[in-house]
Amino acid sequence: MIAKTERKADYQSFNPRWDLSKLTDNRKDHSSSKFQWTAEEAQKPERAFVIVPEFSDNNQRSRSAKLEEAKGLARAISLNVVEASVIPVKRVTPATLIGSGKVQELAGIIKAQDIGLAIIDHAISPKQQQNLEKAWDCKVLDRTGLILEIFGERAQTKEGTLQVELAHLNYQKGRLVRSWTHLERQRGGLGFVGGPGETQIEADRRMIQERINRLEKDLEKVRKTRTLHRAKRKKVPYPVVALVGYTNAGKSTLFNRLTGAQVMAKDLLFATLDPTLRQLNLPQGTRVILSDTVGFVSNLPTHLVAAFRATLEEVIEAELILHVRDISHEDTDAQAQDVHDILEQLGVDTASTENVVEVWNKIDLLEDGPKQALKERTIENVQPMMVSAETGEGLDKLIALIEDRISDTDSIMEVLLPLDKLSLLPKIYQEAQVLSSEDLEDGSVTLKIRAAKPIRHSYKPYRLK
Ligand code: GTP
Repeated sequence: MIAKTERKADYQSFNPRWDLSKLTDNRKDHSSSKFQWTAEEAQKPERAFVIVPEFSDNNQRSRSAKLEEAKGLARAISLNVVEASVIPVKRVTPATLIGSGKVQELAGIIKAQDIGLAIIDHAISPKQQQNLEKAWDCKVLDRTGLILEIFGERAQTKEGTLQVELAHLNYQKGRLVRSWTHLERQRGGLGFVGGPGETQIEADRRMIQERINRLEKDLEKVRKTRTLHRAKRKKVPYPVVALVGYTNAGKSTLFNRLTGAQVMAKDLLFATLDPTLRQLNLPQGTRVILSDTVGFVSNLPTHLVAAFRATLEEVIEAELILHVRDISHEDTDAQAQDVHDILEQLGVDTASTENVVEVWNKIDLLEDGPKQALKERTIENVQPMMVSAETGEGLDKLIALIEDRISDTDSIMEVLLPLDKLSLLPKIYQEAQVLSSEDLEDGSVTLKIRAAKPIRHSYKPYRLK
């Protein structure tokens, strides 16, 4: 949630979570700000206006779904959405994104409704943000900023928190548009940031950059530990089955159903941020690791996808990806496309039906007619799994399919190492579980190994069958 203490922040530089107040507490004396809250006011949730710009070239999704999603995102950080509108944008106005007439009209609503925060459900430039804040006399947050806020609130693990903070600071670096007098005051005479003549913005950028450098180092340490854990897990290489999907598709509910775990499953966008792993024992005795991870959303900023790359390694390297879709949602196809786009960015071959299985969730919300019609739909000649994580319908078939696919893609492989490649042996013993080995007369060795996919892939040239 947007921290109440930070509501005193100067609206022209509104960056609620990881603003410079984290780096210095001098912000409190920023008394020139127009936005001072009384103690009582600070307890109330922020009154927010959700504005969804609709561009003529982007009408793939229904208006109402876009509006609902944007409101959902705002509510995910406990904002009190008192107004929400879709604003058609025929031509982009460089200064404010939306046309000046509309800006004025909205200013009237903002004033009348005593709105403190306007959310533009689109990326806006720092300059546009500044101009809108001036015109509306309230704080403005864009979609990226909002997603960063949500991620910041949801991150649980150390790595998740560091990743979000890093993404936030990188986002913020470009948004320093005015000088921070309080910092200037703090630094007066100390001269530890730059020499005379260095502008305030440069100094602030430098400060952020220093924090970024520190965070990157911390992240590196955390990642090293995690890599060690993963390496250990690979020694007992149960295949990973990863759940991916658009936010609110029902991944956590499905995860809980399948594993009996209690992962937070809520009608809240991005309820899950950090990946959760659980062992799942399938009926025929196959063991897999099921991973639940962050929900995807349209226009997910690329740098955020990049930031989560490390945590999404489980997905990238998964033996099987279950693409969970809310099939009852009117924009289910557009959402599926977004998920495909993000997976592609992560380097997953989504066209491979061997790797990716579509799981159409929430069928309990469908009428019999549409449900029947969906049952007849296939993707690349494969029938998607139709399930309800809520009622349990279809889960037996899904479990059977997982077991089938996993044993099909079998994590066991036989390799033949010729004499001149025997130096690879220690590495193989380290990376894989060696089930049996045989020394042949010519000095070469055959090995039966069980290993996760990327490792098997690296030994493909020596594959026996
Ligand atoms: P993120 O964490 O945002 O990625 O969401 P998620 O995909 O993990 O979704 P989650 O499991 O939190 O479910 C979102 C909402 O959908 C919750 O209110 C669930 O109760 C509901 N839900 C999940 N599966 C089903 C289903 O099969 N049927 C119905 N009716 N509701 C479902």
